[in-house]
Formats: sequence, C-alpha cells, structure tokens
Amino acid sequence: MTMRPDSLVSPTLPAGALPGIVAVLGAGTMGQGIAQVAAQNGYRVRIYDAAASRTHEARTNIVAQLEKLVTKGKLTASARERAVECLTIATNLREACAGCNVVIEAAPEDMALKVALFREVLDVAPNALLGSNTSSLSLTELGAKVGAPERVIGLHFFNPPPVMELLEIVRGIATSDETLAHALDLAKHLGKTPIVVRDSPGFATSRLGVLLGAEAIRMLETGVASAADIDRGMELGYRHPMGPLKLTDLVGLDVRLAILEHLHKELGEQFRPPALLRTMVRAGKLGKKTGEGFYVWQDGVAHAK
Ligand code: CAA
Repeated sequence: MTMRPDSLVSPTLPAGALPGIVAVLGAGTMGQGIAQVAAQNGYRVRIYDAAASRTHEARTNIVAQLEKLVTKGKLTASARERAVECLTIATNLREACAGCNVVIEAAPEDMALKVALFREVLDVAPNALLGSNTSSLSLTELGAKVGAPERVIGLHFFNPPPVMELLEIVRGIATSDETLAHALDLAKHLGKTPIVVRDSPGFATSRLGVLLGAEAIRMLETGVASAADIDRGMELGYRHPMGPLKLTDLVGLDVRLAILEHLHKELGEQFRPPALLRTMVRAGKLGKKTGEGFYVWQDGVAHAK
C-alpha cells in the first residue's frame, strides 16, 4: 500500500504555522548540519544520538554557527532565536520520532544500523517520510529490510550542509510517487536544489567524488607530489573550491573509506581503497574532526604537514 505522508510543507499553511517536525537521527557532522538547516527554515527539529553527550555538543555547535551568521549580518537575531527555539534534544529514539513528518537518519554508513533505526520508529511516526543521508548504500535494500519501502528515500546532503546547495534525492525501486513529491517539497523549503537519481551504488555524486579522492591518495602514496600541491593543482587548474585531499579531510577519512569499501564490492577494482587511507583510519587520523588527516587542522584551518 502506498502511504501518503502528512503534507509537511503545504503552500496553504496558515501564516505563522510551523511546516512540520523533523527528527534527525545521528548528531555527527552531517546530522548537525541538517538539523541547523531545518531549524533555520522553520521546522521543529528533534536531534537524537545514541551517545547523549553528542546531542548536547551538536546543539552547542549549531547555536555557535547561528551566532556566527548573526555576527556576519546573514541572519537576524530574531531569526536565530526562532531557530534555537525550534531545536530540541531527544533522549530516546522513539520520543525523537513520535508524530514526525520527516525522519532523517545521518548515522554511520552501516546498513544494519540504519535498518534498526527506521524499524524501531515505524509505529511512532506512521506517516513520516523515512530519509537516509547515506552516501552510497542501496535505498531499495534499506526500504525492503525496514518493511516500508514506499516511505524510504535517499536525502543525500553535502558537507557543510548549511552551505552546500545540492540535495541528491535517491529513489529506491519501491519508493512511492508521494514520497518523492514530499522529498522535493522538503528540498524546496530547505532552500536546496534537488537532483533525482535512480538507486545505484554511489548514486550520481559519491561515485565520481570518491574516485577523484582515492586517485589523489594513490598519487600521494607514490610520491607524485605533496598533498598541498596535488590539491593546489585541482584548485587552481580545475577551479575546484577545495582539492581532493583537503576535501577528504573535511568529509572524514573513515566516511570515505566506508564508501569506497562498499563501491569496491559493488562496482569493482577501480574503487579499491588505497592502503594509505586504510592505515590513516587505523591510526585515528580521520581529518578535520580529529585534528589531523592529510593536513593538520587548527581552529578549522588546514595546515600542510
Ligand atoms: N558550516 C557552516 N558554514 C560554513 C562551514 C560550516 N562547516 N564551513 C564554511 N562555511 C561558510 C563560511 O562561514 C563562509 O561563509 P561566508 O561566505 O558567509 O563568510 C563560506 O562557507 C565560505 O567559507 P570560507 O570563506 O571559510 O572558505 P571557502 O570559501 O573555502 O569555502 C567551503 C568553504 C564552502 C567548504 C568550500 O571550500 C567548498 O565548497 N568546498 C567543497 C565542499 C564539498 O565538496 N562538499 C561535498 C563533500 S562530499 C559530501 O559531503 C557527501 C558525502 O557523501 C560524503
């Protein structure tokens, strides 16, 4: 049966009404950014993470980001207040999702974990769109395993979510037309430009993005040039806003490794993770979030090693 999610964002909403409730599951880099974007755009947002301390840290970080926007004159103080009021920390998963219109999981790239999260909330958010921020996993598989394939869809945000314009919407084989329409509506109300992509490994973005990153790591491994010069090449020669190694640091080496491992299994040899990437992840050098990856990071700024 195709389920019609409650209209999250109706153009006929009465003036002043909030457009809906979004639960964000996972308070890491992406979860924080997605929660910020939703709160800034008038949604009530509940953030949940299995590690309670992460939700508190997430809220602090989001409030600081909003404050920065006020200082820069990009957000009014009253808009910041409204966004902050919209943010709630949920202490358990079911409470986070109860009565939501949209549930977005931004948990680590692990199918079993994502399935467990959605399965647990099916009955408390019976009409919600179930959006996954996965970078590479199959939405068709996720929907089937959750047992509500018509409601599951990929909502792939990009880091940093408050800045990046794209929302890659990934449609599983059984995702309903209604769920797709709901996702497109959500994109519009979050101020994102959507692309709609058929479910296939790595979709339209990660499949290309990780390949460039992996090749850059192999070039570093074989001494083609320094990390800074490989990056400078793509920044100045190809006008990428950030070179592939710095971008890998921004995204997280662990995140990139998980995507590569999956695509290697699904699509073949060209996605084999470079040995250097594996070694760095084992050493805990995960990039910006741990202070070191291909660069050393201090106060959000990358310094060549
Ligand atoms: N949160 C909020 N705002 C941020 C931010 C963050 N984490 N990082 C930067 N910004 C803002 C800055 O405050 C600044 O805003 P103003 O213009 O208002 O001052 C603006 O973004 C530009 O930042 P900077 O001037 O510091 O630096 P920059 O011009 O180099 O831009 C960047 C930074 C936006 C990150 C830019 O380098 C960029 O676009 N890099 C590429 C990012 C990218 O490719 N992301 C996709 C990664 S792949 C992914 O996420 C998907 C996946 O599946 C893993």
